[in-house]
Amino acid sequence: MSKIGLTKEATKKVAEHLDQHLADLHVLYTKLHNYHWFVQGPGFFTLHEKLEGLYDGVAEEIDAVAERILMIGHSPSASLAAYLKKAKLKEADSVGIDSKEIATSLLADFSQLVTGLRAGIAAAQEANDEVSADLMIGSLSEYEKTIWMLEAFLK
Ligand SMILES: [Fe+2]
Repeated sequence: MSKIGLTKEATKKVAEHLDQHLADLHVLYTKLHNYHWFVQGPGFFTLHEKLEGLYDGVAEEIDAVAERILMIGHSPSASLAAYLKKAKLKEADSVGIDSKEIATSLLADFSQLVTGLRAGIAAAQEANDEVSADLMIGSLSEYEKTIWMLEAFLK
């Protein structure tokens, strides 16, 4: 039993979910920059600015997720090579892209992240790791809002 009252064995699955999320967040972080730079056409100003807000949020989330993995006694992946190998999200090409294509692509990505987070939250609750669950619920809440906005943007 560690000083926080959770065994390393009990949080193994939680750490795996968090590390998967960490890898996907790195792909998302780069992809949001990609779209911030390459967005073109109508919606440029709206998305250019919105994407900056999103990648700033992801940067904070990356740090919180990696540090949580350490707090529960595990090691976060910490190289781009490891993230790319592990991530389920796919990178985007470095080419001009219109705002509807961006919103559609991000909608799919956030939807995938939401599915992963729900599984992670269930694993954390099963391990009585309420703080990891809370961290992921916080992200889930943000992503559900982002999904709602992207859907509204596409209507
Ligand atoms: Fe910028």
